[in-house]
Amino acid sequence: MTKTSNNTLVNVATILSDCHYHNGNTLGEALQITRSAIWKTIKKLQDYGVEVDSMKGKGYALKEPLLLLSAEKIKEHLQPSIKTVEITCLETIDSTNAYLASQQASPGIHACFAEQQTAGKGRLGRAWYSPFGQNIYLSFRYPFHKDISALSGVSLVASLAVAHALKTCGVESETKWPNDILHDGKKLSGSLINVKAESNGICDAVIGIGVNVNMLEDDNHINQDWTSMRRILGDYIDRNKVAAEIINHLAIYLHKFEAQGFTPFIREWMDADCLMQKTVTIHNVGKAVTGKVNGVNEHGHLLLVLEDGTVKAFSSGDTTTKWLRPDGSSQILN
Ligand code: BTN
Repeated sequence: MTKTSNNTLVNVATILSDCHYHNGNTLGEALQITRSAIWKTIKKLQDYGVEVDSMKGKGYALKEPLLLLSAEKIKEHLQPSIKTVEITCLETIDSTNAYLASQQASPGIHACFAEQQTAGKGRLGRAWYSPFGQNIYLSFRYPFHKDISALSGVSLVASLAVAHALKTCGVESETKWPNDILHDGKKLSGSLINVKAESNGICDAVIGIGVNVNMLEDDNHINQDWTSMRRILGDYIDRNKVAAEIINHLAIYLHKFEAQGFTPFIREWMDADCLMQKTVTIHNVGKAVTGKVNGVNEHGHLLLVLEDGTVKAFSSGDTTTKWLRPDGSSQILN
């Protein structure tokens, strides 16, 4: 089911984000809507899994702040040159990638966010856990005036853009070839890209990005080490600012990639990638190859120096490596 976010939901959540009690009358007066509309909105939040306490005589209180995404709020933080981006904020959808793929291609950039994905997709057929209102689930459509063969490296460029955006929000991170963003060896963000060649010579890339922003618990849905911006910074985060920074950075990075290809990003990638100079095993079409990472080439392919000294380039695959924590203990990163 597709549902575009409505203002009442955003406004009620914003008022309740102080986590104090507010009664239905006061809320209704503040927002110029009936008590019954307030009650329906509270019920909707509860149906999405949000914990709302209701107490007779006192009203409603959220357990945790809940600042929802809104296109207007995101636009407030966009750079002037990027304000023409089309922004859609959905309450719930199966997957933002599937949603954008099903929409008629528009001539410009389209950023589609959802508060919840009921069937969020990760790489290699995995699910992407997408609880309501906590994280960023974004699909970003960018129409490249390029042949599909010239788009190799786009997933690395998208990761660099997101990592840079997170840095402007105070979170340091590392990339992990080909499309992960980690903090202290724990997954913070991942991306999933679909590219489709259109008949008019345009190649539409739908870049799906998940960023763990305010999530503190996963109810055992995620089977790898993960973290979130809130875990790292210790504070609740307004996702509208993070969303805008991601759009700002994606637009700039992808524009440069469209004009100049991957070569100008090689240095930045090598500085950001936590696999550099590590011994990794790459799993690719049923085969496993082990070698030392020596960076990436002009196509964004991973360069591995094998035991016999030869260098092999890999265009895709999943990597595992041993990760040494600062305390000397180790974990397998995959
Ligand atoms: C991964 O690391 O496995 C990729 C995760 C990609 C998740 C995002 S969330 C928004 C977009 N919609 C999806 O269904 N998946 C991507």
